Amino acid sequence: MRTTAIAHANIALAKYWGKANVADNLPAVPSLSLTLDRLRTITRVEVIESLEQDEITLDGVRLEGRPRERVVTLLDRVRNQAGISAFARVTSRNELPTAAGLASSASGFAALAMAGARAYGLSLSDTELSALARRSSASAARSLFGGFVALEAGKESAERVAPASVLPVSMVVTLTAKGPKPIGSTEGMLHTAATSPYYAAWLESAPKLYDEIRHAVLAGDLETLGAAMEQSALAMHASMWAARPAITYFTPTTLAVMARVRELRSAGTPAFYTMDAGPHVKVLVKSTDADRIAAELAGVAGVESTLVAGPGPDPRLDEGVEV
Ligand code: DP6
Repeated sequence: MRTTAIAHANIALAKYWGKANVADNLPAVPSLSLTLDRLRTITRVEVIESLEQDEITLDGVRLEGRPRERVVTLLDRVRNQAGISAFARVTSRNELPTAAGLASSASGFAALAMAGARAYGLSLSDTELSALARRSSASAARSLFGGFVALEAGKESAERVAPASVLPVSMVVTLTAKGPKPIGSTEGMLHTAATSPYYAAWLESAPKLYDEIRHAVLAGDLETLGAAMEQSALAMHASMWAARPAITYFTPTTLAVMARVRELRSAGTPAFYTMDAGPHVKVLVKSTDADRIAAELAGVAGVESTLVAGPGPDPRLDEGVEV
């Protein structure tokens, strides 16, 4: 059986950082994201009786080591549930700017869960697919839904909070040069929990920020959403900076873009930044302002390019799409 799925990346407005249960990969804090249209992963899974092991290719390169193991682990769960032992050929392509360090495990594991389950003959609900993706990468649970999506602390699966239409916003993604070799988010959050004296403060403040963000989304209140979103991102990064040794994803360009966003805001344009496990800055703006702000931010020294992403849809199966 052969199946192809398309899933979209998401950017957390209220951040997930830390695990309530490491073995089951349950998040310690609630998070809320916006699924994006432009950034997506297309994954084909073919179950082939004659294979002696899974063959996994991402963007034309055969995966080995830990990245391969993470994919095989998800496929093993699907095989167990389906009662089928045959291996699979997995071919995946990221429609993300190349070498941007935006490589999203979220869209990747969401597409893999959807295509993999179907290829092995399982008919899982969106909620079940979200739980399957979450066990590989918690942020991937949120990519099983379009629009605004929440994953509550300790919960198995994400759920849609609101359709994109509640708030007409876009994300301006500024791609900056790579910083020092980053630590992955899984390892980074475990290290923060183990060594940062600010991790406890993060666990205490994150749910309050999440509540504020959720209410602001539902109320269509961009100003309140933006202020709480910036605080969520910076509180998360502050917990990492206080780890030993510190985890620093920011580069001078990250800080320069943040400063420019604050200037734009002082000049009357609502624009709010958020940063994840990398140096790039994603700026939440009114959709009608997005192109102008993207052009402004492209002029900040160190910014290599910008792109505008609008709200994205649910993932879907699409047998016609090229991989
Ligand atoms: C900073 O979902 O990559 O992007 O569950 O260990 O795979 P694992 O972590 P992952 O963490 C994402 C962290 C973040 C914030 C967020 O997306 O909420």
